[in-house]
Amino acid sequence: MGYVFLMLGYLLASVSFIVGLKMLSHPDTAKRGNRLAAAGMTIAIVVTIFLYEDNGERLGNYGWIFGALFIGAVIGWIAARKVQMTAMPEMVSLFNGMGGACAALISMIEFNHLVHETFLPHLPLSEETLSGTIGQVPMTQVLVIMLGLVIGTVSFAGSMIAWGKLNGRVNDFSFRGLQLVNILLLSVILAFSTYLIVRFSTDSAAPGIFENAQTAANSFTLLFYLILVLAILYGVFFVLPIGGADMPVVISLLNSFTGVAAACGGFLYNNKAMLTGGILVGAAGTLLTILMCRAMNRSLKNVLLGSFGASAKSGSRSSEQGSFKEITLSDAGMMMAYAERVMIVPGYGLAVAQAQHICHELEKLLTQRGVEVAYAIHPVAGRMPGHMNVLLAEADVSYEKLLELEEANQLLPRTDVVLVLGANDVVNPAAKTDPASPIYGMPILDVEQARQVIVNKRSMKPGYAGIENPLFFGTKTSMLFGDAKKVLQELVATIKEI
Ligand code: TAP
Repeated sequence: MGYVFLMLGYLLASVSFIVGLKMLSHPDTAKRGNRLAAAGMTIAIVVTIFLYEDNGERLGNYGWIFGALFIGAVIGWIAARKVQMTAMPEMVSLFNGMGGACAALISMIEFNHLVHETFLPHLPLSEETLSGTIGQVPMTQVLVIMLGLVIGTVSFAGSMIAWGKLNGRVNDFSFRGLQLVNILLLSVILAFSTYLIVRFSTDSAAPGIFENAQTAANSFTLLFYLILVLAILYGVFFVLPIGGADMPVVISLLNSFTGVAAACGGFLYNNKAMLTGGILVGAAGTLLTILMCRAMNRSLKNVLLGSFGASAKSGSRSSEQGSFKEITLSDAGMMMAYAERVMIVPGYGLAVAQAQHICHELEKLLTQRGVEVAYAIHPVAGRMPGHMNVLLAEADVSYEKLLELEEANQLLPRTDVVLVLGANDVVNPAAKTDPASPIYGMPILDVEQARQVIVNKRSMKPGYAGIENPLFFGTKTSMLFGDAKKVLQELVATIKEI
């Protein structure tokens, strides 16, 4: 009976993961989707703790289990409540690393069990046992353990480096031949793992294996931990050279690794909920990685080899493009207050300045005056997927007002004023006109199609790609310098007086 309820629990959890994930694709349903999936996970955890049986025995150890659950839940809750929107990729990376570590720990524990069950069943062995074999350990079982170990460890080590880079504790680091070292490390990991999988399985079926049982157990264990160390090194070297700002793409990739590693755990324990959850995370992470690369018009190889950052550092950063003109607050206020349609383009700077609430206030003020206001959302504006959507949703901006790239581009030629708030690369026309530009081919918001463009940023410094933006020197463009929050506060005050 317990087994039926356990399976029912897993089925319910799996369905909630799938439905929850689907609901995450729209801001109106995202919060509920998140809660639904969390409820499914709670069910999966509870039924596992109370109904899972191994050889007729329940888990027990309730003090340890609930103690750990409590500590983890408190840390997770506090971290999630305190985190700033701009530090979100950092937290995702840390939590993802923990997931990878869990998957690797499962593999370590299960390998240890397997070694004991296979080679050291009950030492000292009787004459009878010595003459027989215990039956072959299937290769797939060792394969799944090794996959969980290697993928989980790479995800853990890589995520920790990504976390360190995002919070400034770890610097970009590379040396000549690092790519070669990485290829070498990966090849050695693959070769050692293949050897271990095949030898473990064949030795377990070899007659007389128990005569050298302790030696066999020791050498397999040694090789296993050597692979673990190599996987840690690979994870570290894999992420170290990648530019700090490319981390969201890498984190998404590592996220998919963790999903696959968790799915391996699901295979090992024949746990359907863990399997479904792992596969969903693996697939979603992979898709997200592909979509982010596509929105930046870069290949994954290009991101992983760090060429974007590299060209940014040496690129056309200093090529002066001429003069730019500035606009006063009152002129900018006038221009917007008397416009028919205003398009706001939020970018990374808006997130840094935490100016989303005052931005919403400006939008309401203009709307009250009869101006049609919309937001143009570039898919990679900011530093993580959906950054602008989440930020504006936090300030209660109506989802109806957010236009995706294509929709916004259609409306821009019929727009009177575009207000660019802390965005740079996503409005850089060089992406269309300069084949030498590192962002050439990246779809951008065609703001120069509007009648007037007001750009708010603090200086003429470049954005994430590190390149000059010809938009700032265009005849229709006026610069409104200052911190986005402060400028918007003053702009709101100015428009109120008009
Ligand atoms: P950026 O190109 O990075 O430009 C942001 C601009 O904001 C900077 O030029 C900066 O200029 C300004 N700024 C910074 N702090 C400000 C403040 N307090 N007030 C006003 N302005 C401020 O940002 P974007 O246009 O949003 O483009 C995003 C970039 O990130 C793209 O290149 C994209 O490929 C990359 N990226 C995005 C993602 C995702 S998924 N979103 C992932 C990886 C990479 P000043 O210093 O002069 O103020």
